[in-house]
Amino acid sequence: MNTVVLGLQWGDEGKGKAIDYLAGSFSVVVRFQGGHNAGHTVYFQGKKVILHVLPSGIFYPDCAAVIAHGVVVQPLQLVDEINNARALGLSLQNLALSEHAPLILPFHQELDVVFEDSRYQRIGTTRRGIGPAYEDVVGRRALFVGDLLHEDVFRAKIAPLVEYYQRLFLAHGHPGVNLNEGIEQYLQAGDFLRTFVCNTAQLLQQAFSDGKDILFEGAQGSLLDINLGTYPFVTSSNTTIAGVFSGTGLSTKAVKRVIGVSKAYTTRVGEGPFPSELVGENGRLLREWGHEYGSTTGRPRRVGWLDLVALKYAVQINGVDSLFVTKLDVLDELEEIPVAVAYKGHGGPAEMFPPHADVLARVKPVFRSLPGWREKIGAIECFSDLPVQLRDYLRFIEDFVGVRVSYLSLGGERRQTIEISA
Ligand code: GDP
Ligand code: IMO
Ligand code: MG
Repeated sequence: MNTVVLGLQWGDEGKGKAIDYLAGSFSVVVRFQGGHNAGHTVYFQGKKVILHVLPSGIFYPDCAAVIAHGVVVQPLQLVDEINNARALGLSLQNLALSEHAPLILPFHQELDVVFEDSRYQRIGTTRRGIGPAYEDVVGRRALFVGDLLHEDVFRAKIAPLVEYYQRLFLAHGHPGVNLNEGIEQYLQAGDFLRTFVCNTAQLLQQAFSDGKDILFEGAQGSLLDINLGTYPFVTSSNTTIAGVFSGTGLSTKAVKRVIGVSKAYTTRVGEGPFPSELVGENGRLLREWGHEYGSTTGRPRRVGWLDLVALKYAVQINGVDSLFVTKLDVLDELEEIPVAVAYKGHGGPAEMFPPHADVLARVKPVFRSLPGWREKIGAIECFSDLPVQLRDYLRFIEDFVGVRVSYLSLGGERRQTIEISA
């Protein structure tokens, strides 16, 4: 059954783990937005592997892995990632890269850093050039993977862009950046990637009409969506359900089920409001228990309690059918587990989530404390063996957000997952 897996919080919910668990019964796994700002962790043969652009289904040799045109691609990074995957013994024969995927160029990354270090716009980005690359798409001056395959086309198209960026860097007080640096390496990377490049929209349409099961792998989280997230502290793509359609070329008919991934608590990397944030010693403890350090940048993640107001918003905007709840084991030692159930201070209904950052920064969350289970759950394999307090915790979430929990994750490994039948 064609399924979309989306993060429902600020990213790092455990989408890689969820995709890896589910992918075995799919013929195709496809990334449709974002870029190498993503860091999806999967355990393969007991080894921790972090994927940035390669879909998390690559560990199943019969599953085609597709990087569709909604993804922004940094060719040198992708070459490295492919080489790393091959070093793990994966053939990647089934990898397809869209010829229409926009390129992240060297000066995009430079500009991301310039903006981050300036006083205009400190978002706490991953500094990978994601925002500037998508800006060029919207500004109708982007270069694409397909351009990289023809040296003359690439050189002809990049020359005016270099001039444009020269003026931009000058205006920002950075006249000395060498904008031609990296062009030769990009062309070499293009040669390396050539065998994977194709029209993925056509490939996916064919897979769909052949009745193959397709798994769509979201990156980032719904609250980082450029239109529906906590603007301006967001990423530059549609991380919500809309990104599936614009990023693949498939229609709503190609999606039968939407699974939302949420941690049993909340984390956020980078700047921006976080109503249920936990600071001080308790925050430090939760960060240590959950090993909450960024998969892409290594930054310590901000941590906080589960925010059901925010989660319900994410469920609604995505049309989520059921939840995949991760990292429940991280809460094992707690006597009481607070969850945010309402907001005060934004002048609206208590259960309304106001996404824009200046309003969200004003809200005061109202917490409800639920009993903890105080038991190690990582080795439990069956739903009925779970502590009653944990099952009650899940029921409380289900009742609040209005959809079922269908998968539980009790550890990072594939086997530490429990599927709950309807
Ligand atoms: P993603 O970006 O959504 O794929 O998530 P990340 O991989 O960035 O971060 C999730 C982290 O939590 C990774 O280190 C995973 O190995 C880990 N993880 C996933 N599920 C669980 C779980 O149920 N329990 C524990 N303890 N760790 C988990
Ligand atoms: P996965 O797929 C968590 C955050 C950055 C920053 C904001 C904008 O692993 O869940 P960007 O570099 O995209 O312009 O940064 O978005 N961010 C993520 N946070 N997980 C991610 O990906 C993220 N990708 C971007 O920290 O706040
Ligand atoms: Mg991540």
